[in-house]
Amino acid sequence: MSNLKQEIEKRRTFAIISHPDAGKTTLTEKFLLYGGAINQAGSVKGKATAKHAVSDWMEIEKQRGISVTSSVLQFNYDGYCINILDTPGHQDFSEDTYRTLMAADSAVMVIDASKGVEAQTRKLFKVCVMRHIPIFTFINKMDRDANDTFELLDDIENELGIATCPINWPIGSGKEFKGVYDLKSKQVMTFSDTRKGTQEGQETLISIDDPALLDEIGEEKRAQLLDEIELLEGAGAEFDQELVTKGELSPVFFGSALTNFGVETFLRHFLQMTYAPLSRTSDKGEINPFSEDFSAFVFKIQANMNKNHRDRIAFMRIVSGEFEAGMEAYHVQGGKNIKLAQPQQMMADERKMVDRACAGDIIGLFDPGIFSIGDTLTTAKEKFCFEGIPTFAPEHFARCSLVDSMKRKQFVKGITQIAQEGAIQIFQEYKGGMEEIIVGVVGVLQFDVLKFRLQSEYNVEIRLENLPYEYIRWIKNPETVDMDRLVGTSDMKKVKDMKDRPLLIFINEWSIGMVLDRNEGLELEEFSRN
Ligand code: G4P
Repeated sequence: MSNLKQEIEKRRTFAIISHPDAGKTTLTEKFLLYGGAINQAGSVKGKATAKHAVSDWMEIEKQRGISVTSSVLQFNYDGYCINILDTPGHQDFSEDTYRTLMAADSAVMVIDASKGVEAQTRKLFKVCVMRHIPIFTFINKMDRDANDTFELLDDIENELGIATCPINWPIGSGKEFKGVYDLKSKQVMTFSDTRKGTQEGQETLISIDDPALLDEIGEEKRAQLLDEIELLEGAGAEFDQELVTKGELSPVFFGSALTNFGVETFLRHFLQMTYAPLSRTSDKGEINPFSEDFSAFVFKIQANMNKNHRDRIAFMRIVSGEFEAGMEAYHVQGGKNIKLAQPQQMMADERKMVDRACAGDIIGLFDPGIFSIGDTLTTAKEKFCFEGIPTFAPEHFARCSLVDSMKRKQFVKGITQIAQEGAIQIFQEYKGGMEEIIVGVVGVLQFDVLKFRLQSEYNVEIRLENLPYEYIRWIKNPETVDMDRLVGTSDMKKVKDMKDRPLLIFINEWSIGMVLDRNEGLELEEFSRN
């Protein structure tokens, strides 16, 4: 790249999070339309038409009509190069969803205006908070009857524990939706139906003091707006860029992705309020994105994107420098130099090969089975490792057994590889070996994925017996805790992970407190660093 610094400065890498059906796909699609990356709405992922343009990699996706894996889309807009990390919104989502957030520099949270904060949003939100990344809220579907605006904001503040700061304010909703009022410019942007975004919308800007506003929105709506603005000035948090950057204040926007209203305004503000890729922490200190040396970390491994080959793609986030196809880099965990061949990048509707990429970008590399989640690659002379990616707590457990015990070898190989990719976590009885395996997953769909993949890729049939456990806690201080003497409850089970680390699984939260009470000095944690 001719001017690496400029290229990196152009980058904005964010994840979109939402509860299923809030409108994440529709919003993404509209972003891509602005970027000219697609010509026609409907080509990102049409659920009804089963067009899984980007991640059509497994039968199970087609059968269920959902997207199992997260994908990455890149487009250019107004001088910026934007990477959107999509996260599966289905309730059966997996650890991948969480890990994707580790690769993002900020997050956009899409909320359905008639529903407010929903379960999925809450879960993903916790990870954003853990990372202290900026969170932007887009309250969608204003063209439908919406909840009271103040209530929606209260809901976010109470449910997610983050202060909100509306950047614009809706005028009515549903059939009565008239547009949004921009609090800073003091202008109303009027809404016109774009027939599901197929027509150019006429977004007229009218000053709040302009008498013409009365014709546009009517006396009643105008009076209500003035009342609400007054209330807001007394109660709402003020915009503060520093708090936004720290992830403590979420700028809120209102709009309707389907009718393409408020989307471009949102995008413009978002780009102004976010920064170019930031440095990341390693064991040798912060790694500056503008450093000449290339470095990246693996945050996701996806198997079998091509059904005819049993290949894996390791997705990595470039942290610093520039990537060139065919270059060599040191794989820190593997302890050797490797050639980075076959790079891939996701575009709106295809997978394409990339020659060059830089800090902020996501690339997918062909993986012959050498990478694990969290691995570091770098060309720097002084080697370092990026901070590990946490293992997220599985919430569903099942005992996994073989139907044909002659297939033990393939079974162990298959289940270990799938666990290495991070799609599932495997545990053993505290005193047991590989003969009995307990599988833990973040979303129950992963059980089906496991069964399907063991059968189709390793020719192994398994039986899964659901276990009632829902909570997992790693032992933070294993060196001072004697596992044999640990006093448990009847709702608890001792297990160990593949690194032989002891942990406990519980049926209910109450038991966790009980065990802590009964064992002085015991410390438990929900996430484990790899
Ligand atoms: P998701 O990715 O978050 O799961 O949501 P998606 O964009 O697929 O949207 C879910 C449904 O909500 C879709 O309708 C979509 O058209 C609709 N939708 C999205 N944004 C808006 C909006 O601003 N206003 C209104 N009224 N509807 C919106 P569907 O009938 O489930 O699917 P489709 O057949 O229309 O694709």
